[in-house]
Parts: sequence; structure tokens; C-alpha cells
Amino acid sequence: MNILLLGSGGREHAIAWKISQSPKVDKLFIAPGNAGTAQVGTNAYIKADDFAAIKDFVLANDVNMVVVGPEDPLVKGVYDFFKNDASLAGIPVIGPSKAGAQLEGSKDFAKAFMMRHNIPTARYKSITAENIAEGYAFLESLPAPYVLKADGLAAGKGVLILETLEEAKKELGDMLNGMFGDASKTVVIEEFLTGIECSVFVMTDGTNYKVLPVAKDYKRIGEGNTGLNTGGMGAVSPVPFANEGYMAKVETQIIRPTIEGLKAEGIDYKGFIFLGLINENDPKVIEYNCRMGDPETEVVMLRIQSDLVDLLEGVAEGNLDKRTLTIDPRAAVTVMLVSGGYPEAYEKGKLIYGLNDITSDNIIFHAGTVSANDRIMTNGGRVIAVSSYGVNKEEALAKSFAGAKTIMFDKKYFRSDIGFDL
Ligand code: AMP
Ligand code: GLY
Repeated sequence: MNILLLGSGGREHAIAWKISQSPKVDKLFIAPGNAGTAQVGTNAYIKADDFAAIKDFVLANDVNMVVVGPEDPLVKGVYDFFKNDASLAGIPVIGPSKAGAQLEGSKDFAKAFMMRHNIPTARYKSITAENIAEGYAFLESLPAPYVLKADGLAAGKGVLILETLEEAKKELGDMLNGMFGDASKTVVIEEFLTGIECSVFVMTDGTNYKVLPVAKDYKRIGEGNTGLNTGGMGAVSPVPFANEGYMAKVETQIIRPTIEGLKAEGIDYKGFIFLGLINENDPKVIEYNCRMGDPETEVVMLRIQSDLVDLLEGVAEGNLDKRTLTIDPRAAVTVMLVSGGYPEAYEKGKLIYGLNDITSDNIIFHAGTVSANDRIMTNGGRVIAVSSYGVNKEEALAKSFAGAKTIMFDKKYFRSDIGFDL
């Protein structure tokens, strides 16, 4: 079969790497991809949300399945676009419908969904300019710190955590006044939750599901989890506290009610659900995403031993219960090399050296790269993820840090404390 994967980051390189190992695949295309995805498939220079161009490409290249990496095309309705087009309707899209993608696309929708299905999460109130007084009153009823979330997609920047009531009230006003454009016309105010976070990934055909390896990502730019939030600086799997007892709670209290709730509400959901959870004893949902995580995918794909394409067929055909998921018992980690300045201003177009000196200890996933005249250059804030296996995370991390030092580019930075808190 021929597969088209949408996206261009480290997550997509990792998914492409795994798909390319399947004996079921003839051709793998990645749109738009990066210099790394070009090593395991064929890049197509189409934007992941240009549906008309995707349609032409799919028909011209006999694509039999579309796998969606990022949230943007899902929230914009790529699943529905295929379903409602007679020439595309037989081609499965791995990813939820537009309605299902609202779990990520609207925090207000996600919170109301969790309330309807008794899924543990922080107490909240949704506020618009019309009921701002209720927002102030709710803030006054909460202890510090205060959590404000833009309802819509805000490129990962829409969550503010404020130490004082005064700041929280001011920021609430600013958010409603367009701080994140339309995305913050509605703001979700949440109770602040404590505990350790982890990322749980579920693959579902709408009825059956499989729980993928649990991972923890490191979001802050600085060592010791300090400084600005990034897309993610590294990840580790497994997560020690996500043991059988913890996962049993996650399945009964969160995963099953989520999948049954989607079904009961008539929402088509054949794809990945990313549960951002907090608290190592008493898991609660911090956020839903309608896709895999980045950089978590750069460790999760290493730990899936089964044929990913077989599982994706199960998702598309509604018989995921008939497919097998086997997990590699080894630890997997990834360390992200980023451009100096990231997540604020940074430069692109720096030559990358040392990729040919990487040993078989590392699996390299490109996050933001481009190739020109046979040279690979930086093309983003997050540039390269250096993934490794180990008998434990310490062994895997030693390999990734060695690889992280071997690869060179001007103003390279990485966190040398990934996994320190587990
Ligand atoms: P989100 O985009 O919803 O994942 O939020 C980004 C980050 O903000 C999360 O990974 C948490 O570290 C933090 N956060 C979000 N909501 C809360 C909450 N209710 N309590 C504590 N921390 C939170
Ligand atoms: N690593 C978190 C995310 O992908 O949203």
C-alpha cells in the first residue's frame, strides 16, 4: 500500500521511520517533510493543511491511507474533507473528525466533555467578555497560582500560570481583549493542580483501543525545568510511576470514559488521543491532544515492536482488537538539539556537521532541517532529536548525550538533564 504522512517535525520523522519498516508499505510520502523524512520516504512539497493539493496528490499517487501528524489539519477538518469527497471517501485518514479534534482545538469543549463523562480534571470556568465578572469572582475563590488557558489553538503558548490574583485578573482581561487573537475570546480558568506530569497515548478505532508506551517530556528550555516553555526538549519512556496500578486507574477513569463518551456523542474518532496527565497517584487530565506528542513520539516509536501499519489498518477498519501491540521492554530516550535563542528569536540556515559520525547507538530524527546542495541545514527552533535505547534510562541517556555532542551547528543547545527527576 501507499501511505501519505502529513507534517514536517521530529514526530513525523519518527512515524515515517516506523512506517518505512513495514513490509505492507510500497511507497511512503511525507508532506511537506524535512531532510530526515526524505531518508525514509519521498517528500512532497505540499503544506499539511492545503487540502486541495493533498487531494490531487493522493489521487495522482494512488495513496491508500493518510496519516496525520500535527493538530492543525485535523482541527481544520481534513478527516471530514476526505469523508465528504466522493473520490476520496474510500481512503482512510488516521486522525479524528473535526468534531473529535475539538478535544484539542477548544479547551472549553474539552472541559465540558470531561464534565459530561465524569473524567477527572481541574475545576474550571469558561469566561468571555460577557461574563468577565464571574471570571474575577472565580479567581478570587481559588488559591494561587492561577491557570488561564486560551480556548483555541495558540501554538502552544496559550496557557498562562500567574502567581498573584492581581496579575491573573489583568491577564484575563488582556486575553479576552485579543492577546491570542480569536483563540482567547474564550478563556478557561482552572484550579492549579500539583504532581508529576506524563503523556499517555491511545490509539483507537472509535470502539477498541490500544495504550501505547507512556512517556514524559521536558517542556522548559532550562535545566532543572526552568525558563520558558518550548515544544519539548527531550523525552523518556517508560515512566516509573506509570505502573500497572496507575495505568489501571487511567484506563478506568480516563481512557474508557473518553472513548465511550466520544462514541455516545456520535463523534467519529479513528486516530491517536494524547492524554496530558498530572499527579502520579491520582491521575487527572491537564489536556487532551488529538495527535501524538513531539518529542514523545521520538521515544514511543522506538518502543513499539509490532508493525505500526498493521495497527493503523486496525484503526481504519475498526478491528484494532484483532491486531497485536507488542512493546519493547528497553528504555528509550530522546534529547532535542535546538537553535540558540529558541523558544524566542533564533537563526536558521546553519550547516549541520557530524551526522555521518553518529554510531548505531543513536537513532536520529530530524525536527527542523532542510537539505540544499547535499548539505543539511537547520530550519527551525527544534533541529534534531537524538534517540537511543538502553537497558535503563541512564544507559540510553548516556548514548543520546554522546550523540548530542557529536552533532554540531552554530549556537547548538540541548538540556543535559533529561530524565533527572524520574
Ligand atoms: P497545556 O497546554 O494545557 O498542556 O498546559 C501547558 C502546561 O501548563 C502543562 O503541561 C502544565 O505544566 C501546566 N498546566 C496546565 N494546566 C494546569 C493546571 N490546571 N495545574 C497545574 N499546571 C497546569
Ligand atoms: N510534547 C507535548 C506536545 O506535543 O504537545
